[in-house]
Amino acid sequence: MDSASRGNLEAWLRFADDLGLGPFYLDRSVRAAALRDVAGAPASLSQRVETPVKMPPAATSSRPSAVASAPEASAPRFAPSAPAPSLFESSNRIEGDTLDRIRADIGPNCTRCKLHKARTNIVFGVGNPKAQLVFVGEGPGRDEDEQGEPFVGRAGKLLTQMIEAMGLKRSDVYICNVVKCRPPENRLPEKDEIATCSPYLFRQLDVIGPKVICCLGACAAQTLLNTNQGISRYRGEFFDYRGAKLIATYHPAYLLRNPNAKGDVWKDLQKVMALLGLQPKRR
Ligand code: URA
Repeated sequence: MDSASRGNLEAWLRFADDLGLGPFYLDRSVRAAALRDVAGAPASLSQRVETPVKMPPAATSSRPSAVASAPEASAPRFAPSAPAPSLFESSNRIEGDTLDRIRADIGPNCTRCKLHKARTNIVFGVGNPKAQLVFVGEGPGRDEDEQGEPFVGRAGKLLTQMIEAMGLKRSDVYICNVVKCRPPENRLPEKDEIATCSPYLFRQLDVIGPKVICCLGACAAQTLLNTNQGISRYRGEFFDYRGAKLIATYHPAYLLRNPNAKGDVWKDLQKVMALLGLQPKRR
């Protein structure tokens, strides 16, 4: 397939994913299995993670569940996939871990997955290492790849506006991605790439220990909730995630294409603000 056709197809699939039409084009159950392999058991995928990662994806040890404020507590409309038993159930946080150590473990020239071939910079994450609020995106785009910082392109500028509308500065929060290297042509990260890179995200979240994690788009939400469900099934609901509240909202890039969805995102961010005791910025 030529790159223009591939780009069109990717855009269409991303749009379908944003709408929550489901994983009809990806077998995400295989990815979930791969995530479990990386976390808990020797398997072909885990062998690609050179750094020993002794923790499971959070959802396998701390199963996300919609908190009481969810509208249908007795019959949840979203059920994250069942947790897998983990060899590391009782020692799932790395003692003495730090962001610097995680960065060093990734290393300056990571070649663990195929994304390394076209990347310019590894985009580790940026912001307050003790942030109460962490935003998790999908993966770097072209601007991020060039600058080595997440969310600095068009979608990033919108994210910055959203953060400021919440009465915060970019430097108050932490911003990172599921994969640290740019997928070529801004395609979706593939399951093996997510399986390889997401353990570093899990460690970042454990080290920062935020009160709230805001997933921007389906990729982040599906990775952290260990689900293949479309984001519109659970957008705007809070879930428990390893001591934090996790909420998923639409990705800023989706908002650039669908400005009508900004109201939904603002509602989600207002829920986050209420949890953090924040007042919106006065205009
Ligand atoms: N989109 C993402 O998901 N992450 C970035 O860093 C930039 C755009």
